[in-house]
Amino acid sequence: MELPKSLRRAVDRVLSGVPLAELAAAWAALSQRYREERDDGKRRVASEREAFAYLATRLPATYAAVRASFAAVAAARPDFAPKALLDIGAGPGTVLWAAADCWPNLANALLIEANPIFRTCGEELAAQAQLPQASWRIADVAADTVDDWAPRDLVAAAYVLNELAENARQSIVQRLWRATAETLVIIEPGTPAGWQGILAARRQLIASGAQVIAPCPHAQACPLQPPDWCHFAQRIARSRLHRQTKGGEVPWEDEKFSYVAVSRVPGARANPRVIARPRKGRGRVTLKLCRPDGSAGETLFSRRDGASFKRAARCDWGSSLDHDDR
Ligand SMILES: C[S@@+](CC[C@H](N)C(=O)[O-])C[C@H]1O[C@@H](n2cnc3c(N)ncnc32)[C@H](O)[C@@H]1O
Repeated sequence: MELPKSLRRAVDRVLSGVPLAELAAAWAALSQRYREERDDGKRRVASEREAFAYLATRLPATYAAVRASFAAVAAARPDFAPKALLDIGAGPGTVLWAAADCWPNLANALLIEANPIFRTCGEELAAQAQLPQASWRIADVAADTVDDWAPRDLVAAAYVLNELAENARQSIVQRLWRATAETLVIIEPGTPAGWQGILAARRQLIASGAQVIAPCPHAQACPLQPPDWCHFAQRIARSRLHRQTKGGEVPWEDEKFSYVAVSRVPGARANPRVIARPRKGRGRVTLKLCRPDGSAGETLFSRRDGASFKRAARCDWGSSLDHDDR
């Protein structure tokens, strides 16, 4: 996946004139803090330079994860055409860009973000772009200082739950579901801890009557057991600035993420989901599948399987497998 041209240009414009050495130093400080401060809500971007470093290095990856999750929602609910978005922990507005790319009829968005540095950065990023009309609120969702929880068609929380104290998450998930007119998407880093956060939210939302539309093809208990965990990977091209800021050479990176999308409306027919990178050999492909009957496991497809094999061979990690190919 590549960033949409308009977003790439916007990032380049905001970062033009920022010395590379400063970006790299800010990235080093930010990533150090991300490694050290876990689950205590203190992973704050502390300066404009760190927000710029986020734009250069993290935004492409979180955009890729959000956009891939939205693509799965759009595949599960082809008739879903959200007009209004609510995004919490908006950062520089990543979800807004991904939602506008996925659903061009999106008309307006409310972006809630605790950190004013990110809002300034997000507004600058959006300044010359054709995006839905967005309003920002500087508010702490955990302290519930948000003044507008009116229901919106699409509600999202990307890479935020893990920044909230554990005892605040349940009430925020409940808030988000109440604010969901149609579909709620929660995305977290693709780590065992990120998956646990998604699992807890999934259980809670199902108990509240939500219909799971992606990635799970069922609403039964997750069949995966630690040390295994459900996550996906989205490859994203790295720009030159991205590579230089991180001091890396490889022109792409794989962003690992876990997510759950729930809706008040059931999804289209639930198909098995590919939950690991397919293993492909000559005339055979093995897919690890999460299946509509609530089970998970590997299925081998060989040329003898004809059309099923062809469909399986086209699958990627995260794809849903059409028809009755189990
Ligand atoms: C890792 S960033 C993710 C930003 C964006 N959603 C993305 O995917 O690129 C997490 C964001 O959540 C915000 N955040 C953390 N705790 C928050 C809270 N209690 N209320 C509002 N925003 C919060 C942080 O300030 C930060 O901008």
